[in-house]
Amino acid sequence: MTLSTSDGHGAVHARTVILKDLTAEGWWFAGHATSPKGVDLAADPRAALTFLWRETGRQVRLSGPVTANPGAGAEDFRARPDASRAAGLVGRQSQVLRALDEHRAAWAEALDRVRAAPDLVAPTWTAWHLAPVEAEFWQSGTGTGQTRVRYRTGDAHRPAWTKELLWP
Ligand SMILES: Cc1cc2nc3c(=O)[nH]c(=O)nc-3n(C[C@H](O)[C@H](O)[C@H](O)COP(=O)(O)O)c2cc1C
Repeated sequence: MTLSTSDGHGAVHARTVILKDLTAEGWWFAGHATSPKGVDLAADPRAALTFLWRETGRQVRLSGPVTANPGAGAEDFRARPDASRAAGLVGRQSQVLRALDEHRAAWAEALDRVRAAPDLVAPTWTAWHLAPVEAEFWQSGTGTGQTRVRYRTGDAHRPAWTKELLWP
């Protein structure tokens, strides 16, 4: 899914992340608190998620407040495959890399460390959940035009949804 965040001063940033879980609390994703996305979310804890299914002509858009869950981040990290935990342990995400070799060496060293210590957790790894206050479903139609349905609520934690059709 595409995760869109703001730095709190009007600059927006978007990137792909994995939807890790969907619970009553919200839609979960994970990453480094020290990454640009983590810095954005600390400055402005609101975000948007966008899903596209090109084959079926569907889009789902969600937006709402985001909560950081460092404990759940540790659990998420331990459940990742060795190669992913090594990548997470290397850290420094989105900093400038001088040469590819530098990263490959750091990743190989991190892989040895995670294999030797399976409980090792990257200290900045964080899980966040987004509790939607707005959700929109978009369906393209062949010959019939598109259908858009939007649900909105004033309170992400006690949702009383208003459902509306939107002009496509
Ligand atoms: C298919 C795919 C899945 C990804 N999943 C994640 C993820 O779950 N968490 C994450 O931190 N980055 C993930 N990334 C990398 C992000 O897109 C992004 O490059 C990275 O998190 C740095 O983003 P930032 O500089 O905005 O913080 C994924 C990239 C791709 C292409």
